[in-house]
Amino acid sequence: LLVDASEASGRPISETLFGIFFEEINHAGAGGLWAELVSNRGFEAGGPNVPSNIDPWSIIGNESSLIVSTDRSSCFDRNKVALRIEVLCDSQGASSCPDGGVGIYNPGFWGMNIEKGKTYSVVLYVRSSGSINVSVSLTGSDGLQKLAAANIIASDSEVSNWTKVEVMLEAQGTNPNSRLQLTTTRKGFIWFDQVSVMPLDTYKGHGFRKDLVEMLEDLKPQFIRFPGGCFVEGEWLRNAFRWKETIGPWEERPGHFGDVWMYWTDDGIGYFEFLQLAEDLGTLPIWVFNNGISHTDQVDTSSVLPFVQEALDGLEFARGSPNSTWGSLRAAMGHPEPFDLRYVAIGNEDCGKKNYRGNYLKFYSAIKRAYPDIKIISNCDGSSRKLDHPADLYDFHVYTDAKNMFSMAHQFDHTSRSGPKAFVSEYAVTGKDAGTGSLLAALGEAGFLIGLEKNSDVVEMASYAPLFVNANNRRWNPDAIVFNSSHLYGTPSYWVQCLFNESSGATIFNATLQTNLSTSLLASAISWKNSENENSYLRIKIVNFGTNIVNLKIVVDGLEPNSINLSKSTKTVLTSTNLMDENSFNEPKKVIPNRILLGKAGEDGEDMEVAISPHSFTSID
Ligand code: AHR
Repeated sequence: LLVDASEASGRPISETLFGIFFEEINHAGAGGLWAELVSNRGFEAGGPNVPSNIDPWSIIGNESSLIVSTDRSSCFDRNKVALRIEVLCDSQGASSCPDGGVGIYNPGFWGMNIEKGKTYSVVLYVRSSGSINVSVSLTGSDGLQKLAAANIIASDSEVSNWTKVEVMLEAQGTNPNSRLQLTTTRKGFIWFDQVSVMPLDTYKGHGFRKDLVEMLEDLKPQFIRFPGGCFVEGEWLRNAFRWKETIGPWEERPGHFGDVWMYWTDDGIGYFEFLQLAEDLGTLPIWVFNNGISHTDQVDTSSVLPFVQEALDGLEFARGSPNSTWGSLRAAMGHPEPFDLRYVAIGNEDCGKKNYRGNYLKFYSAIKRAYPDIKIISNCDGSSRKLDHPADLYDFHVYTDAKNMFSMAHQFDHTSRSGPKAFVSEYAVTGKDAGTGSLLAALGEAGFLIGLEKNSDVVEMASYAPLFVNANNRRWNPDAIVFNSSHLYGTPSYWVQCLFNESSGATIFNATLQTNLSTSLLASAISWKNSENENSYLRIKIVNFGTNIVNLKIVVDGLEPNSINLSKSTKTVLTSTNLMDENSFNEPKKVIPNRILLGKAGEDGEDMEVAISPHSFTSID
């Protein structure tokens, strides 16, 4: 491998090359990144129907001790459904209640992770026909193990109208499969609505699950595309993500049923939270909005203006002054400063649909008029032919087998160097090569990403998809990060991305493999400067997609004599015994990068001999 590290060979890699794509799929947000522990907190999961779907809430007690139903008596206009309990038993009266009382419980998203010593904020809205004495407790999944509890005691005058109650519970034990219980032993009518349990300990105090965000931090993402994907489109327009329904106080959000991935979300993680997450990660938000097109229905271009206005309002919400109509709502949510929103995508995977071009042009001209600096991303692939409409970037999605993905390292080699840049906003090896996250898939992707690094003059951005999966709700395989209520791990695809985490904004050098193995071997060489210690680093990455060990001689030319400190060089290898090996909750580190110090593998300025394992991804720093 001949690396020409001279200044003349160096080309800048796009500052924004590698980022992340967050979609509300696989319970990535609701029951995932958003730390809310209660699922269906407003009892609205059936939509506006009465009786609505209160799943996964369940009843404690039997038909002789209580009657549970829903009605539309909530104090919140946009989510009118409330839970009504008629308690028939009374521990002070003749028909005594069962031990522990009667009521309801919520198991969260396949169990709440309650941890000893941590504090949980419980907020709920309650109303009653008389005085109340309600026990609020966090318990094990059978209700027996008590982890934390408090009583809400209030006179009839205090709760005759809807009243907000807040309780802090400190857990006395740990159980990743806990539940929230609301119980009473007092006869009468009682209504509950908008019940929330949030751990106090969230990422930057902004409601995100810390361990999951920390995995994102390690990727050093330069952008975050959100909130989908198909989630943005909906099977039907009426179920698409519409930003105005997801902002403001959480209690007032209507929530919606995502009919593509088939689950309800309370929209706790809404438009504001996505912008906040981008800011917290120090990355650029890329907002994908609905352009009047779902999987099934479409708005005619002649009637799309309300959608255009909705997008403009969304931009004002993100960027407008705190005195503007929509900017003032952002300020009221605690963020008077504008968010740094510079990119939007008009729709997702809608190119070729009847109204796409017409609708797109309406959005494009309205947005450019109001926000000339915003970069607009088209759904139409401009990599092999010129777009028939203006755009700053075009979206490129690829899901394929591992061999094809590897060979797609050359996908952009012949793309026109003029015109809009590519945003590879979704890529992944899928199907039987991938399982739920195999080494094979990751190696195919590593090859593809090396190709993107080399072509970053035409590929401005790239992100893997999907990012997250709650292992209890696998709607899509594979994914980068797998989690349940308490544990998480990265798939090999995640770890490949980590080895590209210094690429954005780095310099790429000519790296030539002098070999007859060019169909199974790919390599790149980049350098970057560490802003903290001012040192420059050189990283050489090699993917060996073949079955043979390769003894590679690496020659680095063009550097000042003695400018490489080989004593600190490391070799990081991602490989495993079998190509289909995966990580799992039992073996989260089965396929992860292993780093060794190469130390005195050679003297400064000398060539280096490295053995590259079969089926491996190696990074030499
Ligand atoms: O990443 C999963 C899905 O794949 C996305 O929602 C969609 O854009 C693509 O079809």
